[in-house]
Amino acid sequence: MEDLLLLEQISKVYGDGDTSVKVLDDVSLQVKAGEFVAVVGPSGSGKSTFLSITGALLSPTSGRMMIGGKEIHKLSPKKMNQLRLEKIGFIFQSSNLIPYLTVQDQLLLIPELSGMHHTNAKKRAHNLLDRLGLMHRKNHYPESLSGGERQRVAIARAWMNNPDIILADEPTASLDSERGRAVVQMLADEVKLHQKAAIMVTHDKRMLDLCDRIVYIEDGILSEKKKK
Ligand SMILES: Nc1ncnc2c1ncn2[C@@H]1O[C@H](COP(=O)(O)OP(=O)(O)OP(=O)(O)O)[C@@H](O)[C@H]1O
Ligand SMILES: [Mg+2]
Repeated sequence: MEDLLLLEQISKVYGDGDTSVKVLDDVSLQVKAGEFVAVVGPSGSGKSTFLSITGALLSPTSGRMMIGGKEIHKLSPKKMNQLRLEKIGFIFQSSNLIPYLTVQDQLLLIPELSGMHHTNAKKRAHNLLDRLGLMHRKNHYPESLSGGERQRVAIARAWMNNPDIILADEPTASLDSERGRAVVQMLADEVKLHQKAAIMVTHDKRMLDLCDRIVYIEDGILSEKKKK
């Protein structure tokens, strides 16, 4: 099976001199199509940093990374943006919605950037909003949504471009446990059905049975945990 993601000896140091902190130390990970990986570890251990590097939103201090067989730090900034837009769906720890766009327009922005046909994009947006129980909120602005609703909009947005790789940073943090489980189940189904790869940072142990693999980050080191 093809490696959708390959990270080799990734290190990340924040700051320089006396105040520098090494957050990731020679971290490697391979993720194949059809795999759903959970990332766990204490607060401040580098999980979000790891996910941002994986999504090419943050450069590592050293190391090599391939997405869909392409070494990404060798790409021009333009090609890297394109790759990110086409291949990766990112669900941030805070929902990062754009305040002046309605729910529907948040979703339509991404396909517009990548050139998807408007009618198809709208159909897909409505389908996703329906699956996430948000149709009645499609013309609302983020400020009038609850935290959980915002998070579900962010999830739908990450899904819009049908990305090969879904990266989710605590996607269930502001959802009740039933809704949270439904969302993670949706992720798991998508990964299996369409042979995608997903990495999800979570503090919620109840979600781990829906993942195929669990990796643990602490003190800059990433290790694979046995699934019980
Ligand atoms: N831009 C930055 N500059 C300096 N230090 C940073 C920066 N971003 C994160 N850090 C530090 O790096 C460490 C790892 O942060 P990160 O956000 O990756 O942790 P995390 O595992 O996601 O934590 P949490 O579970 O609380 O979300 C923390 O000690 C944090 O203070
Ligand atoms: Mg974090």
